[in-house]
Amino acid sequence: MKAYLADRYGGLEVMRLGELPEPVAGKGEVVVAVIATSINPIDWKLRAGMLRFLPGARFPRAFGTEFSGVIHELGPGVQGWAVGDPVYGISVTALGRQGSHAERVAVPASALRRKPEALSHDDAATLTVAALTALNGLRLCGDLAGKSVLVNGATGGVGHFAVQIAKAKGARVTAVCSAANAPFARELGADAVLDYRVDDVTKRDDKFDVVFDAHGHLGFGVACRVLATRGCYVTPLGEPRVLLRSLVQNLFGRRKLLIGNVRSEPQDYAEIEGLVASGAVHPHIAREFSLDQAHEAFALQEKGGVPGKVVVRVTPGRRERRVSGLDT
Ligand SMILES: NC(=O)c1ccc[n+]([C@@H]2O[C@H](COP(=O)([O-])OP(=O)(O)OC[C@H]3O[C@@H](n4cnc5c(N)ncnc54)[C@H](OP(=O)(O)O)[C@@H]3O)[C@@H](O)[C@H]2O)c1
Repeated sequence: MKAYLADRYGGLEVMRLGELPEPVAGKGEVVVAVIATSINPIDWKLRAGMLRFLPGARFPRAFGTEFSGVIHELGPGVQGWAVGDPVYGISVTALGRQGSHAERVAVPASALRRKPEALSHDDAATLTVAALTALNGLRLCGDLAGKSVLVNGATGGVGHFAVQIAKAKGARVTAVCSAANAPFARELGADAVLDYRVDDVTKRDDKFDVVFDAHGHLGFGVACRVLATRGCYVTPLGEPRVLLRSLVQNLFGRRKLLIGNVRSEPQDYAEIEGLVASGAVHPHIAREFSLDQAHEAFALQEKGGVPGKVVVRVTPGRRERRVSGLDT
């Protein structure tokens, strides 16, 4: 089958369109025919060798952690699903599994969610990683009604969902993004917008109840300068030293250091689907590419500046929804 794959660890230069053996559904697994998939920073972090010390990785290797499609094959022991069912979900590639930047992907049946009819495959392919990370990270902060939330990296994959979810939960949101994406941040509902190249958010007098660091590089110590006394700092980058610090901080400190990871329980899917169905959250697809154009898609996403998500449409077909223009 056709896949966009890496031949070894490295930069974009190690990636190419090629062929991988057909995936086989093992016990408790299904093979999904991928219709749409998206690109996340984890894809190029893995390609760069971030988790190369973990066993299991073999090359050539396709990345891609989220997808939407239809069930192609059921493995032994799988119940409750049928070939042809529309699904979306997560393919955990960190341990070397082949990912969803391919025509088909094998995943445990437990990693699937039935796709609501009203949710397009393109939108569904953006939800599992970025939206569920934003949802989970903000949930850890408790009731957001009337609270002030600073979202750092507010217009990227995670950030653009965080702004919309925080607004939907009644928060006042200050978005930190590049100047070029400031109009987009306002469209998302941000009450105030700061340019990270001009405004040093940590030198402001304002205090925030929540600092949601979608970019992930502000750091707890620095964020504390603008964090209210009982405020929460959330990062999606749970590196070991951050994890260790959070354990100590959350035991003894008044401000909380929280790690917001993807959480994909049925109730998480139900909540994000509800927010999307109500119109409170809108997955923003900046550009859509075919699998043949995946190299271009990666180059754009890695360059930065993308408002929202980049989708790779694996199964050619009618574009399901309008996507915004983005100069490349
Ligand atoms: N733990 C988890 O489960 C999990 C899940 C998802 C993501 N993550 C991690 O979360 C991070 C963000 O993911 P993403 O998908 O949102 O990435 P992304 O789409 O590339 O977005 C990154 C955002 O950060 C902004 N940014 C760049 N430099 C900045 C700076 N100096 N200050 C403030 N903002 C800055 C970018 O703005 P411009 O593009 O306008 O410059 C962009 O909006 C990544 O490190 C990713 O690996 C973790």
